[in-house]
Amino acid sequence: MVTQKITLNNPERFEAPHEIPREKIEKAAKAATDKLKAMAEAHGYGFPRTSSKDYKYNRLENDNWECGMYTGCFWLAYELTGDKFFREVAESQLASYKRRIDEKIGMDDHDVGFVFTPSCVAAYKITGNETAKAYALEAVDYYFGTSYSHKGKFIIRSHRSRGNTGGCRTMMDSLMNAPLLFWSGKVTGNEEYFKAAHDHTLTTVKYLLRDDASTFHHYMFEPGPETPVRGLTLQGNSDDSCWSRGHSWGIYGLPIAYSYTGDEVLREAHRNITLFMLNHLPEDMIPYWDYDFVDGDEPRDSSAGAISVCGLNEMCKMLPDDSADKALYTSAANQMLEAIIDNCTGDIGVDYEGLICHVTHAKPQKQGIDECAVYGDYFYLEALLRYLNPEWKKYW
Ligand code: GLY
Repeated sequence: MVTQKITLNNPERFEAPHEIPREKIEKAAKAATDKLKAMAEAHGYGFPRTSSKDYKYNRLENDNWECGMYTGCFWLAYELTGDKFFREVAESQLASYKRRIDEKIGMDDHDVGFVFTPSCVAAYKITGNETAKAYALEAVDYYFGTSYSHKGKFIIRSHRSRGNTGGCRTMMDSLMNAPLLFWSGKVTGNEEYFKAAHDHTLTTVKYLLRDDASTFHHYMFEPGPETPVRGLTLQGNSDDSCWSRGHSWGIYGLPIAYSYTGDEVLREAHRNITLFMLNHLPEDMIPYWDYDFVDGDEPRDSSAGAISVCGLNEMCKMLPDDSADKALYTSAANQMLEAIIDNCTGDIGVDYEGLICHVTHAKPQKQGIDECAVYGDYFYLEALLRYLNPEWKKYW
């Protein structure tokens, strides 16, 4: 829980409004959607694995957490272009989500929200597809029954990926899984799901946000979910560091929870972790893979930047026009998005398959270091769509 007063160390970086020319965003969106189309045409509709290897994606079945974001890329591209090709690809993938439910493929997992929100919930929100809505609601029933701890009031990190580290844990990532519970609670009137999502978010704020507004990646509860023990990491630099993508799941997850609940505790928590991030951005505005690093040669994680842009943009939609935070977040988000367009897209001297490069998936595990990743592609496209259509309604 944040107890210190968090302030911005470098207000001069964000004082002046920073505009990205609209033509530049349109050009970036065209390049990204053209690339996505070429990818689908070249490789059929196979699902790319989480991150690339030597900048090439390996393709498999719909069986992992990032698959939902691959389908989501096509929904975003459809909304960006109106081109039915993208809608057809997204729709052609929907049956594979029913298969995941029926055959329990990756369903005993904390990341079920990442799977079903940008795929099936998006299909329902964009096209009114009742079948997709039914898939998402079926998934959430299973998810609530298997992954929510009533005693701990949090979404449990799955045993599948627990490794040998023990304990019952929750993690920053699940701030982006909670929206599936919020959404289902809202569309069905199931208050239990809505409350679970809100409680999970409050538990995260209580235990995973540190005093200085940095974040743990995981928090362990042992011997049971009602007994908090300590924070620790999986993908970060150390148990005491602040893993940038984990932090960005908070920069986006908290505004989503605020949009559903209006709970001011969440807006304040979001402000604090945003200031921490802004105090740890390098000169060029592209986060290092962990906020332990603010300069030097460590790899970047541009996906943390793209996710944060979406989160800041989402919060800005709910702040009054004359609010100082809105001006600050807008300047920061604009600078961060422009930095990704300038440094992580276009010609970097090698071919890369994804829509943005310089993503680091899991450095301690030596996976996807300075590569492309499906979630990086998804949140970059979502950021572009948010800028080109300020009325866009989030899938989350
Ligand atoms: N959900 C895992 C990640 O952010 O890599």
